[in-house]
Amino acid sequence: MTACIVGWSHSKFGKLDGETSESLIAKTASEAIAHAGIAPKDVDVIYVGNMNGGFVRQEFHSSLALQAHPDLRFKPSTRVENACATGSAAIHMGLNTLASGKARFVLVVGVEKMTELNSAQAGEVLIKASYVAEEANIKAGFAGIFGKITSAYFQRYGDKSDALAKIAVKAHKNGAKNPFAHFQKEFAYEFCRTPSDKNPFVAGPLKRTDCSPVTDGAAAVILADVSTALGLKQAIAFRAAEQVNDFLPMSRRDIVKFEGPALAWKKALAAARLDLLDLSFVESHDCFTSAELIEYEAMGLTAPGEGERAIHEGWVERDGKLPVNVSGGLKAKGHPVGATGVSMHVITAMQLSGTAPGALQLPKARLGGVFNMGGAAVANYVSVLEPLR
Ligand code: COA
Repeated sequence: MTACIVGWSHSKFGKLDGETSESLIAKTASEAIAHAGIAPKDVDVIYVGNMNGGFVRQEFHSSLALQAHPDLRFKPSTRVENACATGSAAIHMGLNTLASGKARFVLVVGVEKMTELNSAQAGEVLIKASYVAEEANIKAGFAGIFGKITSAYFQRYGDKSDALAKIAVKAHKNGAKNPFAHFQKEFAYEFCRTPSDKNPFVAGPLKRTDCSPVTDGAAAVILADVSTALGLKQAIAFRAAEQVNDFLPMSRRDIVKFEGPALAWKKALAAARLDLLDLSFVESHDCFTSAELIEYEAMGLTAPGEGERAIHEGWVERDGKLPVNVSGGLKAKGHPVGATGVSMHVITAMQLSGTAPGALQLPKARLGGVFNMGGAAVANYVSVLEPLR
């Protein structure tokens, strides 16, 4: 255990007209600093997570964090990018900086302002996180990539549309309890299961309700080393933080297996000296419902091909043996790509400190797992978090 999250902030996620990435960064950065009970001048190093493949005209984001307070002027600030795992990548940079002894306090902000573009245009930006040489012509943006993965999974293990619809229903039921979520309403099983004008097929077997939305939002954390954190009002420690990258081309992997995520989970649980079911809950990267299904297998909750058991038997429900995505996940909370990894850590820190708003708070939250991935199981990050005291 080397570092802790000692302060945090989370913007509302959704279509945030009137906000810019600059305003979102400035607001969440200053709120996280205040929440940690430190002064802006105490921040030593800043990382800004922003996927920034052309969602907005402003591409150079690092010094936008300095807009939060004049005392941040001259602090080193760097933009970090690793596709949809950008937020976790920025946190890892912060952890490395603390481990090197070059900082006592690191500010990490994740942000994305996606809704300047319509869904099709956003898809054009997102598909750049595929292996462009072979995959960029797949239709429907990143949904097309996961449509392909889902079809391959169905071919190997049978049609799992019932399980996908149940995962969507769970996400929206949980999202309805999350005031930060993009969608805060429940969706009926029949609506998610049945293709319709309001729920058309988007790519392969994936319907609209199987997809995370195009979302604006930001989240921020303050990281500190453990001895510094002991003197602060809240401290959520990293028991593990592991990164595993896999080959980018899907043609070089058995894409239905999610081997990179599986290895990241294995390494993180070993580092934390825990079994998966020791965790009180997991926030997992459900950019598409089929991603969550395969992630049940990658985290070791079920054998390969049996992920549906986790949802059919209620294990991953809010009151199940391993609640997954009580926040609503990317599916209902929204997926502003550069912000998502930071958001997952913030939501987990809220749960573990007992400060999640209202009905979002779990009754027992002792240990939390986070899985955030960039690309189709390419850049994989698992964190295990625990309150320091
Ligand atoms: N889930 C559920 N409902 C959604 C939705 C989603 N993901 N996206 C949009 N909607 C709803 C809207 O709220 C709207 O509802 P209303 O008619 O009641 O107002 C309606 O669907 C139409 O919205 P619109 O934005 O026009 O839909 P769209 O068809 O253009 O976009 C997707 C839907 C699924 C194609 C789009 O959200 C998308 O591209 N998602 C994937 C994003 C992605 O790839 N992220 C990276 C993952 S790695």
